[in-house]
Amino acid sequence: MKDYGTYYGVGVGPGDPELITLKTYRLIQEADVIVSPTKKMGKPSIAYRIVESHIPESKTVIDMDFPMISLSAEREKLEAQWEANADAIEAMLAEGKDVVFLTLGDPMVFSTYSYVLRYLQQRGLPTDTLSGVPSFCNLAAQIGIPLTQGEESLGVVAMTQSEEEVCAILDVHKNVVIMKVSANNAFLAEELEKRGLEKSFVLVSNIGMADQRITRDIEDLKGKVPYLSTMLIKKDYQWL
Ligand SMILES: C[S@@+](CC[C@H](N)C(=O)[O-])C[C@H]1O[C@@H](n2cnc3c(N)ncnc32)[C@H](O)[C@@H]1O
Repeated sequence: MKDYGTYYGVGVGPGDPELITLKTYRLIQEADVIVSPTKKMGKPSIAYRIVESHIPESKTVIDMDFPMISLSAEREKLEAQWEANADAIEAMLAEGKDVVFLTLGDPMVFSTYSYVLRYLQQRGLPTDTLSGVPSFCNLAAQIGIPLTQGEESLGVVAMTQSEEEVCAILDVHKNVVIMKVSANNAFLAEELEKRGLEKSFVLVSNIGMADQRITRDIEDLKGKVPYLSTMLIKKDYQWL
């Protein structure tokens, strides 16, 4: 009987195709199967598009369905889909195939990879995770502003979380990263204004991509915000 293959989660960074590790590059070349997690079957994932130029033409790439539905409202439906995806990956591992799952940014930050990983870990199957550059780290690099310095704290919250939780994080930390901004951007604009923070943030959309956009204007936060948008709030920073 063949040995089981390994399930690898690799981070491809937020947008710049050159921002991947040598190890991720090597695994992409050596993989038996590459999994591209997609929100809509037939539509290539963002992660796939980032590393498309690194994938050999002969490579087997399969789309895997991760519907974009609310985790809190439709958890059961999502869990059934994650388990079905884990079953499909297990079948490939059982044939001795190494499976590389592409993730946007880092695989351990708000990633669909991590849900499937849990099922495979519970089944005792070989897994390995390779870090990628998280979107908010590259945001800081792009704008040349540190996330934290000295004794400062950093909070990370997504706008899909409850409004109470978002407010608590806004109040506790000197520096705050807001992810999935488009999920509740008008509320975020209101809360920044309430706290006098309307000039203490930067919002970056499509980081590392051709259409990257940077704004510090609160009015932009009240309009339509792209899905790939991340905010950095810094309370004590001398903004130029
Ligand atoms: C499902 S999470 C994926 C996070 C990812 N694993 C990471 O390490 O950054 C999607 C959110 O990540 C952020 N994001 C990912 N890529 C981005 C990019 N290129 N530009 C701006 N924000 C991005 C946005 O906040 C987006 O709503």
